[in-house]
Amino acid sequence: MKLIFLGPPGAGKGTLAARAVDILGLPHISTGAIFRSAIEAQSPLGLKVKAIIDAGKLVDDDTTIELVKERLARDDVQKGYILDGFPRTIPQAEALAKFSAVDKVVNFDIPDSGVLERLGGRRVCRKCGHNFHMVFDKPAKDEVCDHCGGEVYTRDDDRPEAIQKRLEVYRAQTAPLIAFYRQQGLLLDVDARPKVDEVVTNFKKTLGL
Ligand code: AP5
Repeated sequence: MKLIFLGPPGAGKGTLAARAVDILGLPHISTGAIFRSAIEAQSPLGLKVKAIIDAGKLVDDDTTIELVKERLARDDVQKGYILDGFPRTIPQAEALAKFSAVDKVVNFDIPDSGVLERLGGRRVCRKCGHNFHMVFDKPAKDEVCDHCGGEVYTRDDDRPEAIQKRLEVYRAQTAPLIAFYRQQGLLLDVDARPKVDEVVTNFKKTLGL
């Protein structure tokens, strides 16, 4: 099954994708995580995108499309994938349709107040990428990942001004994808407001699993 996870920043796409990997046995491809690894490694891609991402803006379509096209050409995704954070613009969606036919687009629905609450408290493991939350899912020891012992930190794009920018960008450039995919009969809506386990249950029901 080839799935896209769509939704505003902080809707819980990455958290759900980590659970869906176990449920569906498919690889999770997050463009945001690929960019963050490149930044961490200080690769040419990382150096190019760091300031853009920290400011809450989108990386240009050509760079992002090329990255995903290369990733989806690998053997491990031939049975399916969970694509999280791509496409994020209509040109990206049109490009994707030319190199991979998706089966369903899962739209994680949450109001801005929920986004602000989730992103304001998010902490991420630098080593394994696990998402924590200082209220809903706190690591046992501050700044240490429960799963791999890595450093738990606050993402540079989780500063209040970057969160506001990401919400603006989402409304202007990404939200139009909801109508785009609904029109094609591919969109499935999942209420992302409840606790993680309940969202997982909603997700499974929506997909008929
Ligand atoms: P990306 O990493 O994709 O960021 P995003 O879409 O803004 O999504 P987030 O990772 O912020 O949130 P999420 O929905 O995954 O929520 P999470 O599960 O972490 O992209 C980062 C940047 O890269 C972009 O801004 C852009 O610059 C660039 N980029 C990436 N893709 C691009 C593209 N296609 N084109 C151009 N540029 C691109 O959850 C959030 C918090 O809430 C966590 O703390 C979690 O523990 C908590 N939480 C989750 N679910 C629940 C729940 N049900 N109840 C309570 N707490 C919850």
